[in-house]
Amino acid sequence: MPENFERVPIRLTVNGKVHSLTIEPRTLLVELLRENLDLTGTHVGCDTSYCGACTVLLNGRSVKSCTVLAVQADGGEVLTVEGLEKDGQLHPIQRAFGDAYGLQCGYCTPGLLISAYQLLSKNSNPDDKAIRKAIAGNTCRCTGYQNIFKAIKAAAASGGTQVHGD
Ligand code: FES
Ligand code: FES
Repeated sequence: MPENFERVPIRLTVNGKVHSLTIEPRTLLVELLRENLDLTGTHVGCDTSYCGACTVLLNGRSVKSCTVLAVQADGGEVLTVEGLEKDGQLHPIQRAFGDAYGLQCGYCTPGLLISAYQLLSKNSNPDDKAIRKAIAGNTCRCTGYQNIFKAIKAAAASGGTQVHGD
């Protein structure tokens, strides 16, 4: 039997754009992003909060958006992979992943890009240990990780710590 949930208003900023909408309280942040805002770059790769394909930044901190209720983001700021590029130009971190073959199927890539972005925002020259820690919540089933490490180091070397225009 379908349950009726009272819908609640929510207002949040996603990739710099303010959204006001009304949702069921049980809505997950990843559902809101993908289904309400059509931001399908944030992926769902598991049902156990394990894979990290759904990683986004919420108020500057990386979260697995499959484990966060959308109402918990009320009033907050979210950055998804779509927010990395600007004016049609890929972010240096995105370019580095392509150049270093840091992806194969690409399913994990949005989450890894966000984790790498957060790392480089705080540490402009991360060593292997720092990279390993930063992407510990992201699972890649294809690459073997070596090229992901290379991509993150290349992004750091090319100034990947900066958002476009900063
Ligand atoms: S979808 Fe796998 S951790 Fe969120
Ligand atoms: S590139 Fe396929 S899961 Fe990471």
